[in-house]
Amino acid sequence: DWKPENIVESQIAQVREQVGDDHVLLGLSGGVDSSVVAALLHKAIGEQLTCVFVDTGLLRLGEGDQVMATFAEHMGVRVIRVDAEDRFLSALKGVEDPEEKRKIIGRTFIEVFDEEAGKIDNVKWLAQGTIYPDVIESAGSKTGKAQVIKSHHNVGGLPEHMKLKLIEPLRELFKDEVRRLGVELGLPHDMLFRHPFPGPGLGVRILGEVKKDYADILRKADAIFIEELWNHDLYNKTSQAFAVFLPVRSVGVMGDGRRYDWVIALRAVETIDFMTARWAHLPYDFLDHVSRRIINEVRGISRVTYDISGKPPATIEWE
Ligand code: XMP
Repeated sequence: DWKPENIVESQIAQVREQVGDDHVLLGLSGGVDSSVVAALLHKAIGEQLTCVFVDTGLLRLGEGDQVMATFAEHMGVRVIRVDAEDRFLSALKGVEDPEEKRKIIGRTFIEVFDEEAGKIDNVKWLAQGTIYPDVIESAGSKTGKAQVIKSHHNVGGLPEHMKLKLIEPLRELFKDEVRRLGVELGLPHDMLFRHPFPGPGLGVRILGEVKKDYADILRKADAIFIEELWNHDLYNKTSQAFAVFLPVRSVGVMGDGRRYDWVIALRAVETIDFMTARWAHLPYDFLDHVSRRIINEVRGISRVTYDISGKPPATIEWE
């Protein structure tokens, strides 16, 4: 009989037994899996856990603050926040190719994480939010985009002298079970039931070269879209929804003046497995409302479009 409280209890006992008095390091991304691991380990070993949260500058509006509020402020988890925006942006400067951008973001992530990890004394274990589908995926060694963020945190990247042992308490669980564990551990519902967000973040939602101005504009547009989906009870009827920044300028009029500003695309899909997806048939009135809000409230945007491509042939992300 699968009950989240039983899993929590047995995992806590197992973790305590496994690590003893040792210190454990965890890369916290704010995603479901690493969040549940953080809550679980905090409950099991408290102060022996240190989390490193890397703010890449490619996260959603307010995301870094939310992660810190939930874990550091409310739960009392020891979290080191690394503000690495400048570093990511300078590594990405002039780079337009999507796969190249993914590689750079992945590599920079490892560098930053390892540097922080190297400053913490006495760490013997590295915790990871690996879940059962990840285990299967890497066994089949697909390119596994979803694996990227996790492989960032892999021991392979850490300095030889650290020689961390791996601890993966979610290794046997499916996503829905991980969510139920999160509920049992008292994590916020929104965090557990949020749409998936790619490891490279806004880095693959800004087409071509990534710039801070673009990211700031995109964050605002995206936040309006998501807020309105919640307000209209549509968030949970879509599997994934987000805004994309198109580095294309289009003419618009505002008052007496002309503007020549950027274009935002909205993407919302319905899917079970993310391998195929249909575009969400959001109501026209809703799209109209979101479009007006974005153009009125976000400086730098003159036009909003809605993506009506299915997967296949289009992918869910634009890059
Ligand atoms: P696509 O765009 O391939 O996306 O249809 C399928 C799902 O995977 C997510 N995705 C990623 N996740 N790193 C990730 O961790 C990535 O590089 C990446 N690219 C796409 C995407 O958001 C969707 O849920």
